[in-house]
Amino acid sequence: MIVKNKMKKILVTGGTGFIGSHTVVELQQNGCEVIIVDNLFNSSADVLEKIGIITGIIPAFEQFDLADPAPTAGFFSRHSDIDGIIHFAAFKAVGESMSKPLGYYRNNVGSLLNIHEGMKKNGIRDIVFSSSCTVYGQPDILPVTETAPIKPAWSPYGNTKQMCEDILRFTTASLPVRAIALRYFNPIGAHDSALIGELPLGVPNNLVPFITQTAIGLRQCLKVFGNDYDTTDGTAIRDYIHVVDIARAHVVAIERMMDEKGKSPLEVFNLGTGKGFTVLEIIQSFERVSGVKLNYEIVDRRPGDVEKVWADTSLANTELGWKAEKEIDEMMLSAWKWEKALSSNRVNGK
Ligand code: WQD
Repeated sequence: MIVKNKMKKILVTGGTGFIGSHTVVELQQNGCEVIIVDNLFNSSADVLEKIGIITGIIPAFEQFDLADPAPTAGFFSRHSDIDGIIHFAAFKAVGESMSKPLGYYRNNVGSLLNIHEGMKKNGIRDIVFSSSCTVYGQPDILPVTETAPIKPAWSPYGNTKQMCEDILRFTTASLPVRAIALRYFNPIGAHDSALIGELPLGVPNNLVPFITQTAIGLRQCLKVFGNDYDTTDGTAIRDYIHVVDIARAHVVAIERMMDEKGKSPLEVFNLGTGKGFTVLEIIQSFERVSGVKLNYEIVDRRPGDVEKVWADTSLANTELGWKAEKEIDEMMLSAWKWEKALSSNRVNGK
């Protein structure tokens, strides 16, 4: 990315993670120099080499905990040439946050505060923040727009996303900082190279990796959490969006700010497809593209789940000039290709 005839250097925190790694690929393919910071708590450094195979450039990488002020300050004193930041690094499991609230607040909020200190010290102005549709809870009106009321969070995870957006609302009003918060709906799928994708550690919380792990034989049976919702088939509705579409929106967002095209110090955009699918429709899509009959059973609802949510994406479409391009079958096929690649790597001991 050449802005004012200079190649831009972007710090991607959490850049070895699922969405982070796909965003690093898109940034590099858009001519950016990338440096990743990650504590590898929830990801693996193997991703760096895979990114190198995809783009031809292995990104610079430093491992430390951004929630720790000392190494974070040290990093910014060593890197005074960063032009912008895309901040993914956070804990993100809703269920886990219910049992470990303090760790979630300390990590997710603390890391944003430490990054702000670095921005102030180095005069870094632009930050893209990884937010979530979780901030809406169960919207009263669907599709949900960015101006929908933010309801009381249902989990410490969701609360940290709301808190970080509030922090940005005030810091962008009082400091020389500008921010774009991107509210993801349900990111799924994998890069079409099947070299990078979602790497859930342990038993997956999320639907799609559980589907592919069941189909590949790692899990016995998918539990479908409830079929007594007020939907066409009784199962809950979500707005599933391909991770590469999400990644591309981050490139557009950081470029918008560096190109001085932002319309306010803090802008917020929904990143969804605008279409909702039920759990059973996702299963049907998977069976269609994979040819595998999925073993699943209907069980009780999962506490904390909202019934239905999907995005109004018109603001991102018009303001960012960004629109999700991939349809649900392509998303599910890419997730299945990735699961099969993981399986063959396990067999070959890679
Ligand atoms: C999707 C649907 C489940 C697993 C989470 C985070 C959210 C965001 C996206 C980060 C629901 C059902 C799931 C299973 C099932 N992440 N399901 N059986 O909960 O919508 O959102 O990921 O920003 O913050 O909360 O995603 O994939 O867990 O669930 O039936 O084994 O699939 O009930 O209806 P969710 P999910």
